[in-house]
Amino acid sequence: MHSSIYDVEIMCSWKNHCMHFVQTTGILIPISKRSCSLVSVGHNGLSGSGSVGVVSFFLALLYSNTMSSAGDLEKLEEGAEQTVSERTWNSLNEKQKFSVVSGASLWTLYKLPGLPTIAVSDGPHGVRKPINPLALGESHPATCFPTASALACSWNQEAAKELGEALALECLHYNIQILLGPGMNLKRHPAGGRSFEYWSEDPCLTGRMAAAYVEGVEASGKVGACIKHFAINNQESHRFVVDAVVDERTMRELYLRHFEYVIKKANPSTVMCAYNKVNGVYCSENIYLNRTILRDEWRYDGVLMTDWGATNDRARGIKATIDLEMPGSYGVHNRDLKRALSSSDNDLTERDLRECGIRVMDLIQRYAPSTYESDTMAALENPIDFRKHFDLALRLAKESVVLLRNENNILPLQKGDESLTIGVIGDFANEHPRYQGMGSSAVQSEKVVTVLDALKKFTKNVDFAKGYEADDDHPEDVHEEFLSDAIEVAKNASIVLLCIGLPEIMESEGFDRTHLQLPAQHNALVEACCKVSSKVIVLLSNGGALELPWYNKVQAIMEGYLLGEAGGKAFVDLIFGEDCPSGKLTETFPVSASDIPCDRFFPGTKFTVEYREGLNVGYRYFDTAQKPVLYPFGHGLSYTTFEYSDLRLRVLNDSGGINGDDRFVMIEVSFRLTNMGLMAGKEVAQCYVSDIDSTVYRPIHELRDFVKVGLTPGEQKEIKMILTADAFSFYDIGVSGWVIENGVFEIQIGASSRDIRLRGQVTLANGVLQASSQAQQSYPPESVAAVCPMDDLTFAKRLLLSCLPPPEIFESYFHRNSLLKETSLKSIIGWILLEVVYREASKDITQGPSRNRQLLMVRKNVENLPLRVLVAFSRGNFTFNLLDALIAIMNGQVLSAFRGFGNAFVGMFFPR
Ligand code: BGC
Repeated sequence: MHSSIYDVEIMCSWKNHCMHFVQTTGILIPISKRSCSLVSVGHNGLSGSGSVGVVSFFLALLYSNTMSSAGDLEKLEEGAEQTVSERTWNSLNEKQKFSVVSGASLWTLYKLPGLPTIAVSDGPHGVRKPINPLALGESHPATCFPTASALACSWNQEAAKELGEALALECLHYNIQILLGPGMNLKRHPAGGRSFEYWSEDPCLTGRMAAAYVEGVEASGKVGACIKHFAINNQESHRFVVDAVVDERTMRELYLRHFEYVIKKANPSTVMCAYNKVNGVYCSENIYLNRTILRDEWRYDGVLMTDWGATNDRARGIKATIDLEMPGSYGVHNRDLKRALSSSDNDLTERDLRECGIRVMDLIQRYAPSTYESDTMAALENPIDFRKHFDLALRLAKESVVLLRNENNILPLQKGDESLTIGVIGDFANEHPRYQGMGSSAVQSEKVVTVLDALKKFTKNVDFAKGYEADDDHPEDVHEEFLSDAIEVAKNASIVLLCIGLPEIMESEGFDRTHLQLPAQHNALVEACCKVSSKVIVLLSNGGALELPWYNKVQAIMEGYLLGEAGGKAFVDLIFGEDCPSGKLTETFPVSASDIPCDRFFPGTKFTVEYREGLNVGYRYFDTAQKPVLYPFGHGLSYTTFEYSDLRLRVLNDSGGINGDDRFVMIEVSFRLTNMGLMAGKEVAQCYVSDIDSTVYRPIHELRDFVKVGLTPGEQKEIKMILTADAFSFYDIGVSGWVIENGVFEIQIGASSRDIRLRGQVTLANGVLQASSQAQQSYPPESVAAVCPMDDLTFAKRLLLSCLPPPEIFESYFHRNSLLKETSLKSIIGWILLEVVYREASKDITQGPSRNRQLLMVRKNVENLPLRVLVAFSRGNFTFNLLDALIAIMNGQVLSAFRGFGNAFVGMFFPR
């Protein structure tokens, strides 16, 4: 629940935001607050171990000069006492300095003299430490907790914190110091392949849950978190090269807002930049995103690392304050770095490099004390209590399940009812439970409980039919034999539990879904069962929103997303009323994918993805346009009912001016919540704010706060929230800042975005009279175009352009960022490269039922790799000279090819 200290923190951070205007740029990055003293610990670290992400996995298989202490920098430090990192930095030679800002291997950082190296590992919903660092899928056992898409539905920040704490314990067991999570990109379109790893379509909810997770991971001080992927990384298609074109207001209000919140509230030790470009510049070298916004405006002084293989130009990366290139590139960029440092146009300065190096060294020193000499010692000293963590995974899963529908209160089923016969249908219920996503986050679960296992506790009268093959490579096919078995089981049961959803082949890191439908066989099962039974209960397992054309034919629907290893038990416990469902949706379920404003622009081309829908993401659009939805944002039923009453609004403070002056707003919102039913339960009460008379377009309402409250039957509680300026302001592109327009705001308290129970108004008088004319022109209020702009001119205006540049649709030559797939289609060398990488990447995938879907994932990922990544991951064996020579041949430039091969040859004798 909301505490006042917490609110004051938000206010302060908002004030800092305004301060930026008067201070602008040119701020010296302050010496890290986190510098700690050098602690000498015996060493070994984790060299060669750690978990393997998707990209890293493919490319890991390809793994096979002194700079005098900078005089000017030393002068700078005269008088000021040097930190350990600064002293160490000054003692390093140039090559060592370059090494500090690059990983030492796939999963470890540079080894500083006298200190162990520290290790990083995926995340986010379980610890993934492979037995063989190069083998996908085979990792050490860990607890598989609910994925972010599921846990978000708990709307319980305490739960996210508990998850973080448990993950940190498992990290310590595996000698891991930085956990690569949480993922926190916004769900722009539910078809995004990593939807299961992300929290919500809303930045307020995402920010709060992710901040609590980070606080949990970092609570012991022994493990750090890494929020990812910064930023505007909302799809898998062309993720290495695509340019996300987004206007400033949308970026600030939607896609950066939760990052800002987490940075200011939880100050994570690391941030991972995304692969893609934003407005023309790679995130891994984007000065605006990283230096101007993250460092200067938000005051972030932790380590900013690349996603695995995201480096395009390392010198530009350092200039943009990307401290750490991951994984280690074994010096492939050293020559370019040297050149940039010595160039007369000051491309890269020693200070830039030093700032990055010091931040990395501070991080190493901070976490060095929690490393162990050996993994065995780490494991012995930090045993994992798997039973306790299973119980936690179960508790979190139960809080997360969303009861979407419950006709005639068919649920809960009565415990001990001898007449009950349950027909369970679906491969997910038995042999192939679907409880986590595919890709870098896949965990080797210590234990998995299925729906069938869990049912044994409640009844023996269970019959089962497979219904479908979860491993079917052709989910579009309908298999009659499975259908008829299922119909038989359904006919003879008093209750049908239908376990369906998205099989792994349809959603994964590395590719996006192409539609929001279930496999044809799953839909056919629902229709067939509904014909023979009037008591069909559907249990859904999937990573993102779905179209459910049959929703009103079944009696109940429980949405589990991907619930982790205890998911089966969580479903069954809720079905029998052991607990009351309390999850609520964190994304809108549309009637059809084509209703989603960005559907036409998702996922764009290889070159660009345009965010033309602007602010119209999720409920912001559907509620504003009053468009019917299948299930609204925030929706979730309970076995009990809650009454909302007595809304009171009190203006505690409304003073200040604009842009950097003291603007200060504090509105106290209080109301009463009563449990009117016969069962203890928890309610998620949501607070939305609506700007009633704005001169610019604003969504009809936006989530600004929420609480999750547990109440016993008849119990009532007074709930208090404090809304600060952040809840009322919008980003005005005309003044490049957050602005509150004077006037009336409606405060809404609801059980979902479409179920508002209480409304009240406040009038704010100390903001601006109206928005800038630029803001008004690019986001005109109330116009249809503003609700869902698709036309070029409106979009261009928002990008502050007079017209849009012609779209890139064609490239006449290959370059370092050409994708393996496109080179393979047009050149024999490209084809050979693709096949070699694919063969290498897939050779360790063992025979077994999941082989085909793993191969598919590998293939899609490999096809989408840009050529440059091959160099970064080759341990320096495959050089840029060699790559350039191959590219020249592919382009038919024989002379350049010879020159490239010559350089590669010379490079062999004069290494970096
Ligand atoms: C993913 C990251 C992950 C990294 C390391 C990348 O492909 O995008 O989320 O942490 O691999 O496995």
